[in-house]
Amino acid sequence: MTERDGGASGAAPSYQDYLARDSREVPRSLLERSWRDLGNAPLDASRYTSQAFFDLEVERMWARVWQMACREEELPEAGDTIVYDIVGRSLLVTRQADGSIRAFHNSCTHRGRKLLLADEHIEHFRCPFHGISWQLDGTVRSIPCRWDFEHVSDGDFCLPEARVGTWGGFVFVNFDAGAMPLEQYLEVVPDHFSRWRLEDCWKAVHVAKVIRCNWKVAQEAFMESYHVVATHPQILSIIADANSQYDLYGPHVSRNLAAFAAPSPHLGSGNVDPQQTLDGMLQLMGRRPGALGEFTAQEARGPRAQLGDLNRRAFGRAFEGDFSNVTDAETLDAIVYNVFPNFSPWGGFAPNIVYRWRPHGRDVGSCVMEVMILKRLDRGQSRPEPVPVHWLRDDEPWSDAKEIPILGPVIDQDMSNMPYVQEGLVASATGRVQLGSYQESRIRHFHQTLDTYLQR
Ligand SMILES: [Fe+2]
Repeated sequence: MTERDGGASGAAPSYQDYLARDSREVPRSLLERSWRDLGNAPLDASRYTSQAFFDLEVERMWARVWQMACREEELPEAGDTIVYDIVGRSLLVTRQADGSIRAFHNSCTHRGRKLLLADEHIEHFRCPFHGISWQLDGTVRSIPCRWDFEHVSDGDFCLPEARVGTWGGFVFVNFDAGAMPLEQYLEVVPDHFSRWRLEDCWKAVHVAKVIRCNWKVAQEAFMESYHVVATHPQILSIIADANSQYDLYGPHVSRNLAAFAAPSPHLGSGNVDPQQTLDGMLQLMGRRPGALGEFTAQEARGPRAQLGDLNRRAFGRAFEGDFSNVTDAETLDAIVYNVFPNFSPWGGFAPNIVYRWRPHGRDVGSCVMEVMILKRLDRGQSRPEPVPVHWLRDDEPWSDAKEIPILGPVIDQDMSNMPYVQEGLVASATGRVQLGSYQESRIRHFHQTLDTYLQR
């Protein structure tokens, strides 16, 4: 089975077929196909369940990769500081007086106390234990009873730094002084997103929750459309799932392109009334099905072009911009990139979803999943305040997050699997995970990259 078979139905159009019928000129980045056969070897289930494997990830992978820490707009003023925690390490990501952003290890160089426990605006860093303080640039400001530390220089007391890079309005950090530059690490992402300009957006939604599964189990549930038929059957009339396109770039980047406003091949070619697809899509977009008389499924251009028109007008009104040359695809589809190891921004022009999955402390069996939504700035609009993180408790479903009314219930369906994937991996009799050759190739690509880090 390859992508060319179109999944369950041999007659299904490919994602490129949908692009060929788009009502607007399609950008080169979407016309690309980048796939290669990475083999079919099973994965070891212990990659998700073994504390020793997790510890190796901590030592050899998390210590060396570029990881998204926050948005630039979360640090508008000098002294604004975000605490970025990852696998027991902690960084203070801080806006400097000169406008740059630097990241310091969140640990007192005297006795090790964490300096900040939460995001804060500060004039300078100060350890609450003994009152040692540092300037925003990490140099020593004052040491009470300095006479008692003649054996330690001010240089020795400076806060050690991690590397910082920015792209698309995101701030990235890296613990490895020898790592490749962020720009190189991101491969095709800066080029592909140059059209979608996430730097012109602001973080309007940020929801987080601890999930009872390994961080890779959670992430991988968002790397393929294969699970839609069983996990999200209510959207089969509006998503071309089994004929999604999967692209593998260098070691760090892959993507999934799935057409919305197009029926699943699982429903059989020609079996879905376009009106059903149109109404289902309107519902997904938070609009009343059938309420828009101007949209007739009989129109030759089909639901995708009709909905594209609706979105181009709606985005134009909402963001006071010109969206007239934006493709139907860029207003409708799941254009989902992953940057190794845990960052997943959506492309296109609909409010852009961004996912991040982090281990929960150093627990192999739980993680933090975050869903952000970036909205475009109106023309001339000053950047609104980014929202604080809305943490969901263990007993709160994602559908309780009113800021994600459409996405929340869909994510809850994904959640209905995740803890039981983890439990099942622990209980596995084969000790192996088998992946589909094509539809799950992004997961294999991820694991092969992970292995290159673990082997070094
Ligand atoms: Fe899903």
